[in-house]
Amino acid sequence: MSIYPIMLSQTKFVHRDNINYPFEERGLQFGDGVYEVIRIYNGNYYLLNEHVTRLFRSAEAVKINLPFTKEEVSKLLAELVEKNDITTDAKVYLQVTRGSAPRDHVFPNNVEANVYAYVQHLPRNLDLLKNGVSTITRRDTRWENCYIKSLNLLPNVLAKQEAKEQGCYEAILHKDGFVTECSASNVYLVKDGKIHTHPIRKNILHGCVRMSVERFATDLKIPFIEEGFSIDDITTADEIFLTSSTSEIMPIVQVDSNLIADGKPGSITKQLQAAYEADAHISSTKKVIVN
Ligand code: PDD
Repeated sequence: MSIYPIMLSQTKFVHRDNINYPFEERGLQFGDGVYEVIRIYNGNYYLLNEHVTRLFRSAEAVKINLPFTKEEVSKLLAELVEKNDITTDAKVYLQVTRGSAPRDHVFPNNVEANVYAYVQHLPRNLDLLKNGVSTITRRDTRWENCYIKSLNLLPNVLAKQEAKEQGCYEAILHKDGFVTECSASNVYLVKDGKIHTHPIRKNILHGCVRMSVERFATDLKIPFIEEGFSIDDITTADEIFLTSSTSEIMPIVQVDSNLIADGKPGSITKQLQAAYEADAHISSTKKVIVN
């Protein structure tokens, strides 16, 4: 079942040996893979164990055999940062696919997973973290297993693109009237001094920064209520914020055409941002919240 030698690539006919992308790769053909995005501050990983644990959970859920143990991948990721002499703020993208094999929906036999990871410079966006961002709302049209950090991100990509076209930072997703998460982050509503967010279920990604937020809330004695809030609750919210490894704890000051409260980041969001900066050992010159 091997393929004939001449392939169409863009608008040219090219010998298959001269094609410089892995066209028979399951990540590329089926989105058959999982990934992680991990934050680095001053050359040090933030929440590395949490990300590695989630990578293993995602891989197990889609039956991909990872070619390393948790300890081994953590060591490899540490070496990646060392070899690039990273001492500033950055992020690592790590991807694992089921492997390379002739296209067939059924899993191929005896293939090895394909793994790659790279580091990219990523300074903190102090302006947005200080002043907040606007978002749109969109229907959540994704599958039921969003707890798997899979490469199948087309609905997320489309929602985020729509947000950008509306001049916004993110898209808040909702299903049956209830907010699930954003296209690439978790989302929270603050009302009467309490934080509300969608419970940990299969239909949202279990964010690593979300775990930090829960921990900070407990330390700060702010109730953290894992109950979904409705799209209508947004209009009367005291504060709204989102979290992710790249966005950190980001205030949301406008949703569609509604300003949230006075249109400025709220006090609970700021307390959580301060806790984050302490937890991630952000140096004082790069802090949003100056005590
Ligand atoms: N996205 N929900 C979704 C759908 C996400 O894609 C992400 C992260 C999160 C937050 O997870 P964490 O706190 O572990 O970063 C929630 C990454 C940053 C991305 O795909 O680029």
